[in-house]
Amino acid sequence: MAYGLLKGKRGIISGALDENSIAWKVALKAKEEGATFTLTNAPIAMRMGAINQLAESCEAEIIPADATSVEDLENLYSKSIETLGGKIDFVLHSIGMSPNIRKGRDYGHLNYDWYVKSLDVSALSLHKMLHVAEKLDAINEWGSVVGLSYIAAQRSYPFYTDMADAKAVLESIARNYGFRYGKAKNVRVNTISQSPTRTTAGSGIGGFESFYAFADKMSPLGNASAEDCASYVITLFSDLTRMVTMQNLFHDGGYSSTGISEELMQMIQQQQQ
Ligand SMILES: NC(=O)c1ccc[n+]([C@@H]2O[C@H](COP(=O)([O-])OP(=O)(O)OC[C@H]3O[C@@H](n4cnc5c(N)ncnc54)[C@H](O)[C@@H]3O)[C@@H](O)[C@H]2O)c1
Repeated sequence: MAYGLLKGKRGIISGALDENSIAWKVALKAKEEGATFTLTNAPIAMRMGAINQLAESCEAEIIPADATSVEDLENLYSKSIETLGGKIDFVLHSIGMSPNIRKGRDYGHLNYDWYVKSLDVSALSLHKMLHVAEKLDAINEWGSVVGLSYIAAQRSYPFYTDMADAKAVLESIARNYGFRYGKAKNVRVNTISQSPTRTTAGSGIGGFESFYAFADKMSPLGNASAEDCASYVITLFSDLTRMVTMQNLFHDGGYSSTGISEELMQMIQQQQQ
């Protein structure tokens, strides 16, 4: 059901790789809620071509940008403003990548060049997106910027390796740039800390299915789906959350506040018998 929450709003949505991507679901919902927007992804990710289908169904233009390149981001904002016919009201940062995870390096044996790459792609890119937006005065007053995080920013999940550090930095950038942009232009910046979700980035993490099942059994509501995450993102883009900024908001079915669940205790008891 649509509520017209984003009627008349213009946005930029990054990170839609295929139909499993969280950003893909956000784009479909943003369209349903009346927004117009551009889609963006790293030029290399476009080769798969799936984003063209999304662009067609959302009547959205695609503007390639490597989120680590300030030059690409300048082009992204300028072209988006031109295409959409005015300044931007919302931006989705849905970007993450770790070469160390891809190559199976554990936390004690990280390749440092790749570590820097993970931080640049997955965290500093949010700073760059905000910096370029501010420099070009590309976002309207009371605009909203949302990034996606994971609870490994607060707790240790060994398999998440350098992405855990990247998420901690991402959340810190949301807080610090949120203060700056809030003071300057009333622009809001938040991160959503999402449950494990079966996407290309998610499933690439070692032992994904085990911690997906663990989180599902820990959470009273079960794991939050990508669709539900998209709905939450839409509320943050809408005027219903005008005073929410500099927050890391858990969207995890209650996982982050649970110590242990009966289901998990039973599983352990069965093993002990
Ligand atoms: N899937 C999960 O379990 C989960 C849980 C919590 C948070 N998140 C976060 O959600 C966000 C979206 O990931 P997803 O799960 O939808 O997976 P996904 O693989 O569909 O999306 C990740 C996107 O990042 C893009 N990207 C990588 N390098 C880039 C670059 N240099 N410039 C621009 N874009 C680049 C990829 O092309 C891809 O579209 C990520 O920040 C991820 O860490 C995912």
